[in-house]
Amino acid sequence: MFDWMLSRKHAISILKKDHDTVKVLFDKFEKTENRAARNKIIAKAVSELKAHAVIEEEIFYPAVRAKVGAKIMNEADEEHHVAKVLIAELDGRMKDEGHRDAKFTVLAESVRHHIQEEENEMLPKAKNLDIDFEALGETMRARKEELLTEGFPPDAEHRMVAKSAGRNDSPAAAARKKKSAGTRKASVKTVVAHGAKGKRRPHAAH
Ligand SMILES: [Fe+2]
Repeated sequence: MFDWMLSRKHAISILKKDHDTVKVLFDKFEKTENRAARNKIIAKAVSELKAHAVIEEEIFYPAVRAKVGAKIMNEADEEHHVAKVLIAELDGRMKDEGHRDAKFTVLAESVRHHIQEEENEMLPKAKNLDIDFEALGETMRARKEELLTEGFPPDAEHRMVAKSAGRNDSPAAAARKKKSAGTRKASVKTVVAHGAKGKRRPHAAH
């Protein structure tokens, strides 16, 4: 349970504020069916999550990693990786709105879980460390501002998703497409075969 009284500038307060911002966006997404509103929420949440991931990975995680321990920190790294793959796919061109919404919903579920683990396991351990958390918080705040004005650095997950050219996106949908392409191919063959027969028949009648 996160109920510590920390200053607004404390690094952990900054992370907690980011967590609350994205959780509100996830809730808003679930409450609206409006397409334009949903797209706006996805764009805002993705941008918030990218900035949050960078300040954690570049600044906060390295500062607390040794003392918090590899188990908790490795799990957090992996959760970031999974979220970033989904974010990279959401950044790509997704024509199917149903799948775009589903992908964002899965991202929201995964980030909610990640936030719970950070707030219940990582941050309680981190907050007792002998670190100048206000100085750390200022570094994080400045970096976030820079990211939101100048853009995000390229990451491995975007490169990975770009390489797959959408082929790894939604495997079940891809399997359905493959199956229906196979069925279409088969029915084209059948039509061609029937067509050829149909053409031969009149000749045979003459
Ligand atoms: Fe995180």
